Amino acid sequence: MINITGIELKNPTILAAGIMGTTGASLVRVAKEGAGAVVTKSIGPEPKEGHKNPSMIDLGYGFLNAMGLPNPSYPDFKAELAIAKKDAGIPVIASIFGGTEEEFVNVARGLIDSKPDAFELNVSCPHALGYGASVGSNPDAVESITKAVCDAVDVPVWVKLTPNVTDIVTIGEAAQRGGADAVVAINTVKGMAIDINSGYPVLGNRFGGLSGRAVKPVALKCVYDLYTALDIPIIGVGGIYTWEDAIEMMMAGASAVQIGSAVHEGLNVFSSVASGIEEFVSKREYSDITDIIGIAHER
Ligand code: DHB
Repeated sequence: MINITGIELKNPTILAAGIMGTTGASLVRVAKEGAGAVVTKSIGPEPKEGHKNPSMIDLGYGFLNAMGLPNPSYPDFKAELAIAKKDAGIPVIASIFGGTEEEFVNVARGLIDSKPDAFELNVSCPHALGYGASVGSNPDAVESITKAVCDAVDVPVWVKLTPNVTDIVTIGEAAQRGGADAVVAINTVKGMAIDINSGYPVLGNRFGGLSGRAVKPVALKCVYDLYTALDIPIIGVGGIYTWEDAIEMMMAGASAVQIGSAVHEGLNVFSSVASGIEEFVSKREYSDITDIIGIAHER
């Protein structure tokens, strides 16, 4: 058992926000595969269709996607969250986004009756319309949104940070000042692919967020830097496919890890990463899994 912001997890693997978190049934499915907790697809204030196709490309070394935050809006997602809460048997975290502080608060308040175990604020989607793109790179906005949601709800608030900034530590510190219980790092890295035959960007939205194996070193460095500056836990995410990836992330400073892109290679990733971590910890004779958190800083 590990404890993250007061929430008990049977292992440190968490489904990252994304497509597998779109319905109550898909969240339950991931839970049954052995995840320690699950995060929903980001939910916002209004129904959104998402961007036109193609919205996702497999690059081999990662995915580039611009789904466009498709979601039914919080009033329609309540029932899905309730299903996940009833049947998953593990903590369920609601990922939410908004264009303004007020919208973040409305979505959080709107979902609170469905009893999410925590909220994860997606202040970092690379293409939330309006000021979404700039929220996550603006320390004042991150601090005030975090504070407003923390004041509005009585469950832990995690803030998911974007790597598309000059200095992620400044943003992490703003989240901490706003009262965040944890930060989650990283969201996707902005990127593009071009079709040389047509001469146009491939994605319907032209650019998107890069995830998967390609971003692991970027994520590790962000988590490492955040660990030197913050007092709150860091949840590491970005390119985790194996238990070795997860150990690296924890040694950089993560208290738990999220897994997103790797679900495309099989949902057994949660149980294989969790059992690999456990075996490593006991073989190396650490007294507890928490002993490896941040040890990459010790020399
Ligand atoms: C989307 C949202 C994200 O937060 C992200 O990192 C990538 C894509 C989306 O729904 O488009």
